[in-house]
Amino acid sequence: MSLAEYGERIRENDRVILYISFRQIYPLFVTPEKCTKSGQKVEHVFQTTYGALRVSDLIGQRFGTKVKLTRGYAYVLHPTPELWSKALPHRTQILYATDIATILLQLEIRPGSVVIESGTGSGSLSHSFIRSLWPSGHLHTFDYHESRVKAAQQEFQEHQVGPAVSVRHRDVCAEGFDLVDVADAVFLDLPHPWEAVPHAVQALKPTGGRLCSFSPCMEQVQKTCQVLRKCGFQEVTTLECLLREFQVRKISMLEFDPTRVSKTEADSSANTKATTEGTTEVTTEVTTGVKRPLESDSEDLESKPVTTTNGSAKATIPERSFVTGVPLLNMPGHTGYLTFATWPAQIKLEDGPFVTDNDAV
Ligand SMILES: C[S@@+](CC[C@H](N)C(=O)[O-])C[C@H]1O[C@@H](n2cnc3c(N)ncnc32)[C@H](O)[C@@H]1O
Repeated sequence: MSLAEYGERIRENDRVILYISFRQIYPLFVTPEKCTKSGQKVEHVFQTTYGALRVSDLIGQRFGTKVKLTRGYAYVLHPTPELWSKALPHRTQILYATDIATILLQLEIRPGSVVIESGTGSGSLSHSFIRSLWPSGHLHTFDYHESRVKAAQQEFQEHQVGPAVSVRHRDVCAEGFDLVDVADAVFLDLPHPWEAVPHAVQALKPTGGRLCSFSPCMEQVQKTCQVLRKCGFQEVTTLECLLREFQVRKISMLEFDPTRVSKTEADSSANTKATTEGTTEVTTEVTTGVKRPLESDSEDLESKPVTTTNGSAKATIPERSFVTGVPLLNMPGHTGYLTFATWPAQIKLEDGPFVTDNDAV
């Protein structure tokens, strides 16, 4: 099992995702025994709100199997970066699939890419980077919080992606990345990303690359954009990814049926009269009880009619119910702004300094 590849059956020491419901997703390490706080080894039994699971029973099962708990059941899934983001132990705020998908696309991450990331945080984005650049690329990820560095290192080993990632303990704003001309892409999730931008210039390949900075506040975005332009980045663009949730609802609406309008068309000239303001006013009279043959048996046609009065017009209009998606009026969704920029290819003139493509033309 590796988070970057797919395995068929569960083996000892694999990471699996126990899926009970959309909101109950647990990461589980498949070890037959576990240590208690006092250091004693006991059988590994995982407790859920639907009862217990003996973890050793998972060994040999196919990923995706429905497994019995003592008071219910769960699915044991192969870990993916998306599931890991939903289940991981939070050490910091993290990025989720919507932003991550945009980041991977815009940074053009592909097998073989070399990526620099700071900070590592809880490693949510790191796992997606690793899967995209796997197997020949490399992720250099930095955090100035030592225990987060150690926790991330351990998780990468447990998830068998260790060779594709280096985790370093470093303040990247003060000390830079200690990498020169190696990166295809740089990603910043820092409180002061503009301080790391000049270091990103050093680290990006002279053949060009992409940078992304994630910031919750517009003031951070503005400062970062100013520094990006000053340092020579091009195509500076800021995006916000918002999830738009629709709830499935049965709603009723008055049915519009032109066959119910009897006199309107036939007597339109008779019903049109000049008003005192010189404009024309149309009165309509609507007959009731006319059903189109195809609709007469429809279950959705509500029997209770609505009677409306509009000037001289009177109508009895049935209501029609149908299932549709209704957007929520208030939707929480802001995570942050994603600022992307392109580091243009630098051309080395003979014995001269690097200049950009544009300068050379
Ligand atoms: C919000 S978290 C990153 C979360 C990460 N993107 C994820 O999806 O799990 C920000 C991290 O940046 C680290 N950090 C802040 N300033 C830093 C700096 N100057 N150098 C290195 N790391 C820094 C913090 O310790 C923190 O762990």
